[in-house]
Amino acid sequence: MLIKVRRGWELPESAATPEHIFRDRRRLLKAAAAGPILLAVPGILAGCGEAPDRADQATQVAPESQVAGAGTSDATAAADPSAHLYPVARNLRYRLDREITPAELATTYNNYYEFGSSKTIWKKAQALPIRPWMVTIDGLVENKIEIGVDDLLAKMPLEERLYRLRCVEAWAMAVPWSGFALKALVDLARPLASAKYLRMESFHDPEVARGQKASWYPWPYIEGLTMAEARNELAFIATGIYGKPMPKQNGAPLRLAVPWKYGFKSTKGIVRFTFTDVRPNTFWEKVGPAEYGFWANVNPEVPHPRWSQRTERVLGQDYRVDTQLFNGYAEFVAELYTGLEGEKLFM
Ligand code: MTE
Repeated sequence: MLIKVRRGWELPESAATPEHIFRDRRRLLKAAAAGPILLAVPGILAGCGEAPDRADQATQVAPESQVAGAGTSDATAAADPSAHLYPVARNLRYRLDREITPAELATTYNNYYEFGSSKTIWKKAQALPIRPWMVTIDGLVENKIEIGVDDLLAKMPLEERLYRLRCVEAWAMAVPWSGFALKALVDLARPLASAKYLRMESFHDPEVARGQKASWYPWPYIEGLTMAEARNELAFIATGIYGKPMPKQNGAPLRLAVPWKYGFKSTKGIVRFTFTDVRPNTFWEKVGPAEYGFWANVNPEVPHPRWSQRTERVLGQDYRVDTQLFNGYAEFVAELYTGLEGEKLFM
């Protein structure tokens, strides 16, 4: 595979591409017909990908009154038992090519289907109890662990990283995550040589997460990485954002951040890490296999079946920027995919 490597902090040449959203309804229907679950249920055509339409209507910053209870307020953050850990020192190795997204936007414009398919689920997400929160590490490992999240945090080297996030729906944000390198958790577990994948499972509690009552979705949310991806320096478990504990709507207490992949890989509310020799069949793969795959690496040259991936709308801005291969992180991750050219690496 020939990959042009551009450094993460280099400004794209055309930072202001004219706004254009791809809305070809005939292609939409054709593509959806290929996805068994997508067409099976009226109204679910959305999947993770309906939002170019909806997202456009929701660009404005939420009114202040709405933000006050959004889980980022000082009082809410202080109530989190891990509050004393933050802020943590920033690791300057990871730079941005754009401004940091305002916290009010990143914490009120979310995807968290457990709480519904709109972007405004932040209030509903407050229903999720995040303590006690037990984490299981199991499967093909020497060190199987059952641990409370605060004890896990005490073992992990916390740092802050500025990462971009590129949603498959073609919106993007740039935020300061706090957390730890996923590799630290992998090392703690000591996987056997037979472990080829890391499977991540999110919580399942339909009584508090009403979206999980939608039986056409294959709950719980499952995501996965190869072991090489999980050990890559960029793979990060985020436990906080903007120098505070993670708000519930952003995935508290543990969420993945893999910035070279489309946002749906960055799973939230993780309760289990399982090392396995079987490639995990992920949530969105099950929902729409013609549209969402295991790899989901960002590539502007490979359109989603229903829209172009060439540009992205930056939350809080009224312009679009060019999307970059591996979301601008090729120098860190391109080598992971050598020899895998036969795979659908970009969906
Ligand atoms: N994780 C879970 N468990 N459930 C979800 O619905 N949505 C994903 C990802 N992680 C999702 C999830 C998608 S599609 C995106 S774009 C990001 O979360 C959005 O993260 P944010 O809300 O913090 O911006």
